[in-house]
Amino acid sequence: MLFNLFKKEKKDEPDIDYFSIKVDLHSHLIPGIDDGAKDMDESIALIRKIAELGYKKIITTPHVMADFYRNTPEIINEGLEKVRAELAKTDIDIQIEAAAEYYLDEAFEVKLEKGTVLTLGQNFLLFEISFINYPPMFFDVVEKMKSKGYKPVLAHPERYPYLGVAIENYERIREAGCYLQINTISLTGYYGKPVQKIAEELIDHHLVDFIGSDMHHLKHAEMLKMALNTHYVKKLLMDYPLKNQLLIS
Ligand SMILES: [Fe+2]
Repeated sequence: MLFNLFKKEKKDEPDIDYFSIKVDLHSHLIPGIDDGAKDMDESIALIRKIAELGYKKIITTPHVMADFYRNTPEIINEGLEKVRAELAKTDIDIQIEAAAEYYLDEAFEVKLEKGTVLTLGQNFLLFEISFINYPPMFFDVVEKMKSKGYKPVLAHPERYPYLGVAIENYERIREAGCYLQINTISLTGYYGKPVQKIAEELIDHHLVDFIGSDMHHLKHAEMLKMALNTHYVKKLLMDYPLKNQLLIS
């Protein structure tokens, strides 16, 4: 479907292999447990939009944050089962699994110690950090994740203003063994021009490991459709061994 969409609109573009983004690994589609889909109808509507864009699998990632969203693997998996049951009643052809987007706080460190975290594919662990302050324990926690056998994936690095425009800051994170996942819609300017610019720079410097929708609501779905037509997404799909495809099975 993606393929046809692009072929129609850009006849001069070379054929692009969309296989690498058939899996979306970052979204908030389990109703009522975070700031994503509010109810089952919204959840199904969002999943339908993602399927229509040609994705074959969603690994949805509810927020886990001690101060706001105290989601546990049980709550998430229970929500997932309800979504699956509802999805089975529709004609939507897409697989859905669940992991989580962990906020880097003390409770996360406790979960790491206990091993009670939900991972993506082969032990990838999606986490986010404060949008306001640089967390001083950042590199220690990355080390801790690695020492426990997880592969840390920092969600939307382009969205943390304090990381700044210096590409070295992102290189340092990646050199520490932390993968980077940009939000596809950052490339449309949805979060502002500075965020778009950093996302583009990360692509130019070959620092992007994954792209994700970070879908919360229908506006994001519209933006995702637009994002998939940007030059930078095409660049990612042509020049990159994006790791999204590692999550396909
Ligand atoms: Fe998210």
